[in-house]
This record gives sequence, structure tokens and C-alpha cells, in this order.
Amino acid sequence: MLLLPLLLLTDLIPGADNKHGLKHAFRGPTSFHVIQISSFINSTWEQNQGSGWLEDLQIHGWDSNSGTAIFLKPWSKGNFSDAEMTELVETFRVYFIGFTRIVQDRFSEFELTYPFEIQVIAGCELHSEKTTVSFLRGALGGVHFMSLQNNSCVPTAQGGSRAQRFCTVFYEYQGIASIVEMLLSNTCPRFLLGILDAGKAELQRQVKPEAWLSSGPPPLPGHLLLVCHVSGFYPKPVRVMWMRGEQEHPGTRQGDILANADGTWYLRVTLDVVAGEEANLNCRVKHSSLGGQDIVLHWGHPTSTMVIILAIIVPIFILLICLALWYLRRRSCQNIQ
Ligand SMILES: *[C@@H]1O[C@H](CO)[C@@H](O)[C@H](O)[C@H]1NC(C)=O
Repeated sequence: MLLLPLLLLTDLIPGADNKHGLKHAFRGPTSFHVIQISSFINSTWEQNQGSGWLEDLQIHGWDSNSGTAIFLKPWSKGNFSDAEMTELVETFRVYFIGFTRIVQDRFSEFELTYPFEIQVIAGCELHSEKTTVSFLRGALGGVHFMSLQNNSCVPTAQGGSRAQRFCTVFYEYQGIASIVEMLLSNTCPRFLLGILDAGKAELQRQVKPEAWLSSGPPPLPGHLLLVCHVSGFYPKPVRVMWMRGEQEHPGTRQGDILANADGTWYLRVTLDVVAGEEANLNCRVKHSSLGGQDIVLHWGHPTSTMVIILAIIVPIFILLICLALWYLRRRSCQNIQ
């Protein structure tokens, strides 16, 4: 419902790395946002995509042909009644039609050329158990263009004069502006609290990671690339470090946290070391599901296969010696007899 040729950048999504203490008090996601991606191919051809997210978990889709929402979780309606949800979906449907028409009609004022893409992100975030903060940002062609602050349209510096003109046009649509304001300040916080409660069994679950080590392609001759894989954990925050003894190794390189198909996460953390200097290195994994019992994997420790081989060969060898001794003794006894 966010009228505005705007667009959004994924790094504008709040909550993903939120560091304030709320995360600890309140496990699981703390923000909800909708994303609109509108692609204008030519004067008669455009495509709107819509989706609803709890941080990085998608819970709503949008079928733009029929103008209806797709509820991806059994709890995707939160505590809204069917009637309220129907009304909300209708608001979005009308919004998409109106948005498209306004952009196509006023396209020339903004000196845009086809094809172009507008992205909007809007939602709200819990800052404490009682306070929520709402946000709306728009981007054009991937450049952050404007945001809505205290119900005012604020053009960004990189949006240039086009963004300023856009904000002027925004105020001409007072009806839309007040619906947006209502959705952001009232509907979104109510919906967020309802959905966090309705989905809490899934959102607050704790799934322990599995971790294993491997070596990767050496970055330089005479070097080793040690790889620590951590997979299957939920929620997303995790800390994985290469350590020398009890000290974090400064060469630890963390990859991106990737999604597994089952909604859990995967992370790969590497360390480039000079061959021969890999003694006493270990990979340490800290995750909320582990209850303080970090996983620690030692590099180059006698591997379990080594231990098994020793455990089998050594007793067999001893047994053979005993048998040989016993046989020799028996023979010598017989000779005496
Ligand atoms: C707009 O783009 C579509 C899809 O590429 C094409 O089929 C259509 O003919 C185009 N219309 C105009 C007016 O260029």
C-alpha cells in the first residue's frame, strides 16, 4: 500500500542483524515487512510482485493475476479475522492497480525510460514489548530513492531531483498517503504482534547445528584451506570461529549464511594457513540451541578412523605375539617330555 515509485534495497531490511538486547529477551524474528517489486517493461506491460516477510522468512506471496494473497504458513493470518484479512488483501489489490496506473500516467514527468523497476519495502519492527517502529523505503532501479519518516516523504541525496519531484507528487495523493499511514502505524504493529504469537512454535524453535571439517583448494602453494561447515541450525544467529588454542584466529573468514530447504541455515567458515602451522587449531561453534555447550572440532587430531585402526591392529598384534610365544613354549615343553 505503499504508493510510491520507490525501491528498496535488501540491506535496508531491519532486524536481520539487530544487536539490541531484545533478540535475547524475545527469541525469533522481531519485524514484519512487505516487499513490492514492480517492473515496467513498456507503456502497456508491467508486472507486480508482492510478498510478506518476518525478517528473512517469507510467509506471504501475492498472485498478481487474481489479485489475491497466498498464505504460506498455517499461521500467516496472525490473529486477524477472515473479514479483516479479506479487507486488507482488497486494499493491496486496489493499491497495485492504482500504483501501476499512476506510474504509467505520470511516467514522463519523471524522465524515466522503459524498462525500469520500482521496489518498495514497508513494515514495522518491535523495539520493546510495547513499542514498534514503522518504516517505508522506495528504490528506483536499485537505488534508494525515498523514505517515509513521521508520515513525511523524504527524498534521499542519491535520488536527486527526481526523488524531490516524486515527493511533491506523493502529497497530491492525500487519500493514499493516509491509508499508508494507517497501515504503517496501526495495522502493521497489530499484525506483527499477532503473527509472532500465532507462529511462535515455529519461530522460536531451537535446532542444533551439525559441524564438520574439510580442506578446500589451497589459496597459495604451500598453504592449506581449512573449512568448518555448520549446518541445520535455527534460528539464524550463530558464531563460528577458527581458534588457535583459546584465541580466535584473526584469519577466520566467514561465508554468507545460506538457507537449507527445510528452513534451517548453513554456514561455511574458512582459514588459510601455511602448511605445517595447523597444529592446535580448532573450530568453535556457538549457537543458542547448544545451551552454552559449544561444539569444538580439532583440526588434524587423530581422526576417528585412525583411532579405530589403532584399536584393532594393536590388540591383534599383541594376540599374535602371545599365540606365537604360547606355541613356542608348548613346543619346547613337548621337546623336553
Ligand atoms: C510491451 O511488451 C510486451 C512484452 O515484451 C509486448 O508483447 C508488447 O507488444 C509491448 N507493447 C508495446 C506497446 O510495445
